[in-house]
Amino acid sequence: MYPIINKTELAPKIKLFEVKAPDVAAKSHPGQFLIVIHGEKGERIPLTICGYDLKNGTVSFAFHEVGKTTQDLGKLEPNQEIDNVTGPLGNPSEIKNFGKVLCVGGSVMIAPLLLQAKALKEAGNHVTTLLGARCKDFIMLEDEAKGYSDKVYIATDDGSKGNKGLDFLVELLKTEKFDRCIVMGPVILMKDISAITKPYGIPTVVTLTPIMIDGMGMCGVCRVTVGGKMLFGCVDGAEFDGHLVDFDELILRQRTMLPEERLSSVLAEMNGGCKCGRNKT
Ligand SMILES: Cc1cc2nc3c(=O)[nH]c(=O)nc-3n(C[C@H](O)[C@H](O)[C@H](O)COP(=O)(O)OP(=O)(O)OC[C@H]3O[C@@H](n4cnc5c(N)ncnc54)[C@H](O)[C@@H]3O)c2cc1C
Ligand code: FES
Repeated sequence: MYPIINKTELAPKIKLFEVKAPDVAAKSHPGQFLIVIHGEKGERIPLTICGYDLKNGTVSFAFHEVGKTTQDLGKLEPNQEIDNVTGPLGNPSEIKNFGKVLCVGGSVMIAPLLLQAKALKEAGNHVTTLLGARCKDFIMLEDEAKGYSDKVYIATDDGSKGNKGLDFLVELLKTEKFDRCIVMGPVILMKDISAITKPYGIPTVVTLTPIMIDGMGMCGVCRVTVGGKMLFGCVDGAEFDGHLVDFDELILRQRTMLPEERLSSVLAEMNGGCKCGRNKT
């Protein structure tokens, strides 16, 4: 069992958990992910590592309550326990001195992005961070971003905070040169940023989040097409070259379980709470 040490609400329905898991923390690196299981019969959900503390033996992850499992997880409080935290999985990010790096994070993925921004800053890079979300409520960890970055930009879809949309980035790239771009966030954001950086030849690394089951290369559910080749999101990634990813295929594959996911939420609602039975109200 994995006790929750700290719980922070980063934004509406977005929680950050720090969990005691010394064996996981000892091997964790930026860019890797965990498979979290809540409840004896709970489903396995992949969540990206956004911090680890070797001294205290803890690992942190942030999650958006989008469906049944993440909503159940969000009800847990410090001192309660999570049944299983497996990891670290996937490959660590490449961290070295690239020069000028543009780090782009969208909504909940701002949290793990900042772990990379911090590591890239410590490796001697000039770091520019762009925090993006649909509106101001989902712009989070701004002070932390300022601490790890030389410059911070904010963009919202509705213009309620910072720049409206990504047009400003198109203008920025006309005058400022970057040696690398890292993007973590919704698939559509990764697709759009990759399209913006491509004409400038800026190597762009995206973190793909296909549906996963085992997270260890056995089930094949997380197939993605990159540069015309079929790869597995879990063992070949989760980071890939954004200029080579078939984003449209990924968007379609992410929607394949939509009817089942909706049914699961409705059934949980009818049962009055958590499918593991612990949080029934
Ligand atoms: C490698 C990896 C890392 C991830 N890291 C994070 C993270 O750090 N924080 C976080 O909040 N989420 C992350 N995700 C997505 C997260 O795993 C899903 O949101 C979660 O499994 C949803 O479970 P649920 O039962 O609550 O919702 P479900 O009922 O399964 O789904 C609810 C809604 O979320 C969408 N959804 C489900 N799975 C995914 C997915 N893999 N990607 C995008 N949308 C999805 C569904 O299409 C549906 O609209 C990651 C996914 C992967 C593969
Ligand atoms: S999640 Fe099963 S092979 Fe990747």
